[in-house]
Amino acid sequence: MSRTEGLTTVQRVSAAAGAGRRRQDEVYRAGVYGHRPRVPVTSRALQARAKQALNARAYAYVAGGAGDEVTQRSNRTAFDKWAVVPRVLRDVSNRDTSVELFGRTLPGPVLLGPVGALELVHREADLAVARAAAAEAVPMVFSNQASVSMEECAAVMGDSPRWFQLYWSTSDELVESLISRAEKAGCDALVVTLDTTMLGWRPRDLDLGHLPFALGKGIAQYTSDPVFRRLVEERAAAAGAPRDPQPRPTLSAVRALVGMARAWPGSLTDNLRSPLPRAAVETFLSIYSRPSITWADLAWLRSRTRLPIVLKGVLHPDDARRALDEGVDGLVVSTHGGRQVDRSISALDALPGVVNAVFDRAPVLLDSGVRSGADVFTAVALGARAVLLGRPFAWGLALDGERGVRQVVSDVLGEFDLTLGLTGHTAIDQLSPEVLTRVG
Ligand SMILES: Cc1cc2nc3c(=O)[nH]c(=O)nc-3n(C[C@H](O)[C@H](O)[C@H](O)COP(=O)(O)O)c2cc1C
Repeated sequence: MSRTEGLTTVQRVSAAAGAGRRRQDEVYRAGVYGHRPRVPVTSRALQARAKQALNARAYAYVAGGAGDEVTQRSNRTAFDKWAVVPRVLRDVSNRDTSVELFGRTLPGPVLLGPVGALELVHREADLAVARAAAAEAVPMVFSNQASVSMEECAAVMGDSPRWFQLYWSTSDELVESLISRAEKAGCDALVVTLDTTMLGWRPRDLDLGHLPFALGKGIAQYTSDPVFRRLVEERAAAAGAPRDPQPRPTLSAVRALVGMARAWPGSLTDNLRSPLPRAAVETFLSIYSRPSITWADLAWLRSRTRLPIVLKGVLHPDDARRALDEGVDGLVVSTHGGRQVDRSISALDALPGVVNAVFDRAPVLLDSGVRSGADVFTAVALGARAVLLGRPFAWGLALDGERGVRQVVSDVLGEFDLTLGLTGHTAIDQLSPEVLTRVG
């Protein structure tokens, strides 16, 4: 994967044309010398290997979904209801997989979606993802629950595209601060995730009694924020010294305290003696999301940023129409990977209705269940401008850090390029529902 090193973003985007054959070449040539791809190419094998590599809590957190995980399975089976009918004898020697999104040309219709608490799967977490995204010229959506601050990630990305995903906190001041940091960090868009006004019912995490944020993991956007830090200091000052006798610490409690102390800026020794790390976790838990937000709040957000606003988690055509009427710039059709509502409509099943309702007024992206280049093809044919990859890149990160993420991205883009050509197409604008047939 060294072909793009030292190139500018524009050069990387054009280097992506013909990505499929180049990726195959790379793999098969290396195979002659006995080298195999560092992470499995299929998503099932990728997940199985990551499961072996991760501890039970980390694996459960990434793999798990809401309830019985019916939504999560539907996100996948929805793809099986569609089949492409390939066309032959068309010249497909030159293909262009690039796509325009908010003034940028991307090498393919793929972004890395916001995935929080990545420190659970790899020590470099978001930083490794940021490097990989920049190397492959795909946009990275910084999670509001990242393990590394947006500024640190932006610093390793050069001019490569990045977006920021916001959870609407109960503190307006914190929301304003996060937005202005995202603007300064060069983000091209603000993604507001609407499906997580409360955390979904997640049995795998409940069975393990595990919430990363309660251990100080995945709160780096907060601990690096001046408004949040002030709120923490105020909370700690108001609490004073603990009045009740503290329960005898267990080994897990000590580990949790060390984790919290690590998450707070400054030296670990000082933090272990300070009330601030614990106050930070408590402050986070009390303000991270606001179940009371309504359509009326969007105007407030609109007036506070010049960035395009993209709503993530829209599934109903009426909500899609309303969003556009309220001046929103894009939508992500998403079930949050089935992590929020069980027995929900799958994202792909919801896509055509939303695309129809939006009728070219704004880009619609698809997220949830995308595992391969062939999936990207189906989503784009059904009207998605691009897709967000989620779990697959987290598994790649778990197995091989930055290189693992790069491989997952280039495999997906490579297969997409070949699927485009092998079905008789040379550019994305040739894809429409007519290239598919309903089989389920
Ligand atoms: C471990 C994990 C953490 C996530 N964290 C966030 C987050 O912080 N913000 C957000 O909007 N979505 C988050 N998501 C949802 C993803 O952005 C995306 O919607 C989901 O992964 C898509 O489903 P898929 O991975 O099965 O394709 C997270 C998903 C996972 C698996």
